[in-house]
Amino acid sequence: GCGDELIVVSNRAPCVHSQTGDGVTAQRPAGGLVTALEAVLSKEGGCWIAHGSGTADRATVDANDHVLSEYLDAPYRLRRLWLSDAEVAGYYDGLANEALWPLCHRTGVAPTFRLDDWSHYVAVNRRFADAVIAEAASERPVVLVQDYHLALVPQMVREQLPDAVIILFWHIPFPTPQTLATFPWAQQMMAGLLASTVMGLQTPADLTNFSPARAAIPGIQGRGAAHAGAYPISIAWPARNDVATPGIRDAVSSQFGIAPGVRLLVGVDRMDYTKGLSERLQAFELLLERRPDLRGQVTLLQIGAPCRSALAAYQTITRDVVALTERINARFGRDDWQPVVLHAKSADAATVTACYRAADVCLVTSLHDGMNLVAKEFVAARTDLRGALVLSSQAGAAAELHQALIVDPRDIAGMARAIERALDMPFEEQTRRLRAMRGVVSQYTVFRWAAQLLVDGMCIEASRRITR
Ligand code: UDP
Ligand code: G6P
Repeated sequence: GCGDELIVVSNRAPCVHSQTGDGVTAQRPAGGLVTALEAVLSKEGGCWIAHGSGTADRATVDANDHVLSEYLDAPYRLRRLWLSDAEVAGYYDGLANEALWPLCHRTGVAPTFRLDDWSHYVAVNRRFADAVIAEAASERPVVLVQDYHLALVPQMVREQLPDAVIILFWHIPFPTPQTLATFPWAQQMMAGLLASTVMGLQTPADLTNFSPARAAIPGIQGRGAAHAGAYPISIAWPARNDVATPGIRDAVSSQFGIAPGVRLLVGVDRMDYTKGLSERLQAFELLLERRPDLRGQVTLLQIGAPCRSALAAYQTITRDVVALTERINARFGRDDWQPVVLHAKSADAATVTACYRAADVCLVTSLHDGMNLVAKEFVAARTDLRGALVLSSQAGAAAELHQALIVDPRDIAGMARAIERALDMPFEEQTRRLRAMRGVVSQYTVFRWAAQLLVDGMCIEASRRITR
């Protein structure tokens, strides 16, 4: 069991073990949920329950499915849960990523609703809830349930452990009541969520969507009085000695085959249709068209980590990004200069940080995004107070990072102008803007985020017990 530890439960695990020619390798998957929760559990310790998806995940656990200590260099414990191919297809690919993900993000991609997927979702949520109950050492565990994959877990845990502190954090945007109403299982989902002690959302706008949805669900009184609030997620603030080294720009350029001296626009994303990658590439293309003097002078280095690749919509965005990159490179490229360098692979955290530090401009152009930690990571990486951030108004981070160059990701011409302005921004202005944004991110770290959720959850359950 987990003792009195904090129990985190998510679909995605912080570490995936793969079997390679050289033996077992460990990788941290790309994604904001893992980045944030990994930081919290690395400091706090605890027990993390997550799906085991790696080719060597089964070979690296003990009889209780806990990852063997020699394979996990962390102060927390990781319990793996196994899903069959049919469960993955129905619960993860189907209900989570073809129904809920497009339902919650305004991108033009329509959600697909299949009854069979929903059945898998219910069954898999039950399995995660059972794992939580098995790991709980007391009647009152503190459980942090993560994201849209596990909306039914609060209710399922509550039925067995009525006094548990259950915090559900919804990492992605919450749909409007009108949009939610198109989801065939909205009532069941809301009932699942509202059994939590605290329902955490990213921004005040998400809370505005959630509140009427909750009021519209009949028959959830009494125990379903979850406290809903906006708790914007964040990152760990880097240590004082974690600074850019001279030469980082040349090192990054050489790593990605870019000539030294070429200015860098940097994008770091999962290859996802919510990230506005096509719009970003088109804006850069337009800028090169309008400003011939920039040709040969600036390269867009785009990291695109593959994800959810079983799904048609993800195969399409990947194909579109590759095709646009090829078109722009064919149109403007020269022997010694490529306008776009696409790294269609996952980059590790050290490489990502090096890219932020080498960048003249960081581009975050999501069509819709719960928070976007890349924007905050860029701000944190710029200890030198240099560089500019172009940030979509449709990312949750725009509600906090007012000193970014805020853009409408659907306005290609406007984005081209913003990139131009970012490249032309005087050093004093870069510094002034970064100082303000660094103030915001350093004040509200992921540790404050977690502490606030935990304090609220524990207070509410304690006062319920006392007044009962
Ligand atoms: N990331 C990474 N490698 C990559 C791409 C992304 O480590 O190749 C990390 C990135 O540094 C950030 C997270 O994945 O910590 C992405 O979080 P964000 O909130 O920006 O978007 P999400 O992927 O969760 O939608
Ligand atoms: C978003 C979601 C997370 C998810 C991440 C990566 O951040 O909110 O729940 O883990 O994307 O996606 P994946 O499907 O690879 O876990």
